[in-house]
Amino acid sequence: MTYKIAVLAGDGIGPEIVAQARKVTDAIVQKFGHDFEYTEALVGAVAIDKVGNPYPDETHELCMNSDAVLFGAIGHPRFDNDPTAKVRPEQGLLAMRKKLGLYANLRPVTTFKSLIHKSPLKTELVDGADFMCIRELTGGIYFGRPQGRSEDGQTAYDTCVYSADEIERIVRLGFEYAGKRRKKLTIVDKANVLATSRLWREVSQRIEPEFPEIEVEYMFVDNAAMQLITWPKRFDVMVTENMFGDILTDEASVISGSMGMLPSASVGVHTSVFEPIHGSYPQAAGKNIANPCATVLSAAMMFEYAFALMKEGALIREAVDKSLEAGIVTEDIADGKKAYSTSEVGDWLANYIKNA
Ligand code: IPM
Ligand code: MG
Repeated sequence: MTYKIAVLAGDGIGPEIVAQARKVTDAIVQKFGHDFEYTEALVGAVAIDKVGNPYPDETHELCMNSDAVLFGAIGHPRFDNDPTAKVRPEQGLLAMRKKLGLYANLRPVTTFKSLIHKSPLKTELVDGADFMCIRELTGGIYFGRPQGRSEDGQTAYDTCVYSADEIERIVRLGFEYAGKRRKKLTIVDKANVLATSRLWREVSQRIEPEFPEIEVEYMFVDNAAMQLITWPKRFDVMVTENMFGDILTDEASVISGSMGMLPSASVGVHTSVFEPIHGSYPQAAGKNIANPCATVLSAAMMFEYAFALMKEGALIREAVDKSLEAGIVTEDIADGKKAYSTSEVGDWLANYIKNA
C-alpha cells in the first residue's frame, strides 16, 4: 500500500527539521519495504507571501486527501512585531486544526536517560517522568467569538466557549488513554473561576462512573503548573482545554532537557497532523543548528498513530536514544561538547536505521 504524506514545512527552521524527519522516514520505508509518496504544500508566513493565505485551499485539499500530515513550524518575527497585521501565520495553523477537525493534541512527555542532566529540575524529580498531556485543540478561547476591539480601539476581548459535546469527546479520550497506561487521569481546569471549566467538571463527573478502573483527580491549572515542576512523576494522563494545554506543555517540554525533543500528534475527524511542539525558532532559521529530534519523534508518532506500524516507530525512537547516548546532538543539548548540525544528526539517525 502507498501511504500519502502531505509535507507542510512552513516557516523558520521548519524546512530544515522536516528534511531530517524525511531522511529518517525514508530509511524506515526502505528497511520495512513500505511505499511513501510525499507532496509538499504551503502553510504559514511563506504561504502569506506567496499566495496571501496562511492555509491555502490547495493545502487543505492535499491534507484531506493524504494519510498523514508531517508539519514543521509556522511563525515569523515580522508578524510577531506587528500586532496590527490583518493576516497572521498562526491563523493558518488554527484554520488547519479546525478544518481537519483535529480536536485532540497528544503531547507525550518522557525523559531520556542521557539527557537528564540537562533538565532544569533535579535528577531525582525527573528521572522516570512519563506522562501524556492531551490538549483540546479546536475550542476555547482560541476560537471563541466574539473576538476583537471596541470601535475606539481601546478595549479588546476574547471569548472562551465550550459545548458539552466538545468537552465530552476530549475527556473520553483522556479516560481511554489512561486505561491504556497507568490508569490515572488528571483533569485540569479553573473551575473556581471560569464557567467553561465548571462545565468541564460537570461533564467529566458524569463520564467518570463509566471508567471505574481509572483514578481521577481534578486540579486547578495554577496548581498543575506548580506540580509539573515540583513532582512531574505524579502525572500519567492529563487532559485540559486549549490554552491551558498550550501553556502547560511548553512548561512540561523542558522537563526532558530541551524543548527540541517534544513531539506531538493532532488527531480528530480527518487526517492527523504530526508536528514538534516548539515553534519556528527564527533566530536559527537557515543555520543548520536546530534540534531535529522533536520532528523525527513526531514522525515516529505518525507511524504508530496513523498507520499502527509500531516496530517502525520503535526503531525511530531507538535511533534517537542511541544518538543521544553517542553524543550526536545539536547545540541545545551538546553541553559544551561538540555540537553537530541539524543535517548531521539527521544523517546519523538515517544511517543508524539502515544498519540496524
Ligand atoms: C503550539 C503553538 C501554537 C498554539 C501557536 C503557534 C499558534 O504554540 O502548537 O503550541 O498556540 O497552539
Ligand atoms: Mg504552544
